[in-house]
Amino acid sequence: MAREYELKPAPSVEGDSLAGTTTSVNRRQFLRYGFNTAAGVLTASLGILGFASILLPPGATGGGDLAVQFWAKGREDEAWYGAKHLQPMTKTDFKNEAALSSTGTSGASGVWNGVPVVVMYVEHSKNAGTIESNGKARFQFTEGIDETGKYVGHFDDLAEADPRLMPSEDLVMVFGRCTHLCCIPGWQLVSNSFTEDSWTPGGGDDGGTKLFCICHSSRFDPTVLEMNTNRNRSNGATFQYAGIRRSGGPAPVGLPIIPIQLNGDNIEGLPDYVDWYTYCD
Ligand code: FES
Repeated sequence: MAREYELKPAPSVEGDSLAGTTTSVNRRQFLRYGFNTAAGVLTASLGILGFASILLPPGATGGGDLAVQFWAKGREDEAWYGAKHLQPMTKTDFKNEAALSSTGTSGASGVWNGVPVVVMYVEHSKNAGTIESNGKARFQFTEGIDETGKYVGHFDDLAEADPRLMPSEDLVMVFGRCTHLCCIPGWQLVSNSFTEDSWTPGGGDDGGTKLFCICHSSRFDPTVLEMNTNRNRSNGATFQYAGIRRSGGPAPVGLPIIPIQLNGDNIEGLPDYVDWYTYCD
């Protein structure tokens, strides 16, 4: 019988039937999600340098490549981008994949400047003017609350100050570390009701198309953009950020956005908000 690895039980979250349960995966599954392991080791090994030092702007260290690359390690045979491992992400890749979806969405794990990211495509420009009950995904721009339930502000407040935080070309990219215990959530890594190809408005926990963290089942809705707050793990400083909403599970808040731009068809990340990615430092 295959050896089983126990993942840490999540803290109990009221009203969440999945919280508090222990999740087991066998060796095959563990290796299958090798991206989580590999990126965790990568981040740990860079810890001595400080997290910010691996997110330097172009030219600052002779590195600083803005390009985002697909990351399909361990999933080469099953992810739609399996054959594109470490190739630059393009908008066309996501658009073509979304055309196969009933909700008009697609997503993929990636790596950018040495850190894990997730890029998601939502056919917002096509669906924003249609009735929400048709199940076609579009972005929603909302207020946000912190982990205590306190209102912290509206996404628009941040986007007005920096329009680059708005989804660019129907694409949004987030930092790929869970706000619970820093595992790496993935787009449709597993099949369940949270990841199926269905969409409901409002940022609740029903409907599919959620970014799902396999460690303790946290869910994030990439179509709901909000303002939120988190803390720098090293010095405790609180910061506000633009992010996607946490819709369920033990994660306290949503995942921070990394603004992007297109260079031709290639997707590039902009290293302007390094502080937002320090909650796992
Ligand atoms: S690390 Fe626990 S749910 Fe993501």
